[in-house]
Amino acid sequence: MEHLHAQTAAGHQGPPPPGPTPLFRPLSGALGAETDAIDLSRPLDAATIEAVRTAFREHHLLVIRNQSLDKERMYRFAELFGPIESHMIRLADGSKWDAVHTITNLDAAGNPVAKPFISSNYFWHTDKSFLAEPSLLTMLHAVELPPNGGDTQFADMTKAYDALPDATKRRIDGLKSVQSLEFMRRYTGSAPPTEDDIAAAPPIAHPLVRTHPETGRKSLYIGMYSSHIEGMPEEDGRALLEELLAHATQDRFLYTHTWQLGDLVFWDNRCLLHRAVANFEMGKHRRVLMRIVVKGTVPS
Ligand code: SIN
Repeated sequence: MEHLHAQTAAGHQGPPPPGPTPLFRPLSGALGAETDAIDLSRPLDAATIEAVRTAFREHHLLVIRNQSLDKERMYRFAELFGPIESHMIRLADGSKWDAVHTITNLDAAGNPVAKPFISSNYFWHTDKSFLAEPSLLTMLHAVELPPNGGDTQFADMTKAYDALPDATKRRIDGLKSVQSLEFMRRYTGSAPPTEDDIAAAPPIAHPLVRTHPETGRKSLYIGMYSSHIEGMPEEDGRALLEELLAHATQDRFLYTHTWQLGDLVFWDNRCLLHRAVANFEMGKHRRVLMRIVVKGTVPS
């Protein structure tokens, strides 16, 4: 009798008892999650760090709202994910970008400028894919924003890969695409790199389909640095790369971030593409984001 009663009770379970509220809630779009329950002005406890890492693995992009970070705090948070990357980009005075630097439309006198300083940011890319060890994660923190627009868009390369027809997956499996700084500068209409830059970062072949080292999931590894396909006639390789990019950046794979002041956004370059969106009056309004990048490992 007792046994039967237990079975009946188990068969008619009501709603499960409430568990702990997840720290991050999914964003509306193909990827990403947000929280307003973390304060990065103080060191995080081990459980929160673990929750952030888990959410990052699951959602690929996290938004932590309402932060007011100085360079030191941003650096300390970023280095929880790995070694911090150094940069090749030089400022007007010839100095290199700091580990924590700013993405801005302001000139040296602090006035908004209508033309972007780094126009290639407006093309789909994954950071530093032209290096042997491309960027793992990039972090942006909103310090000044235009009244509207100035969005950043992200595309999920794992979902894009999964949605490819099996025949295409078979066709691209094992291919390598050559990633080139010089090609990117031509493709985006930017100034050519210096000979020193090319010597520091010569073209390099990476898998067209890379496997995420933590999740084991496959994703497309493409974008504005992808020049051609190794061992394929150049025209055919270009056609394939353009076809894959058009597929991978359909609305169904995108999340568009509409910035709020104080947002800290960070994303996984190993499985996402991103680009800035030129949807604000650049010559009129100020847009300043602090930025830091975590170095990655050799794609495989
Ligand atoms: C970037 O490409 O890292 C910058 C994106 C942005 O300015 O929104």
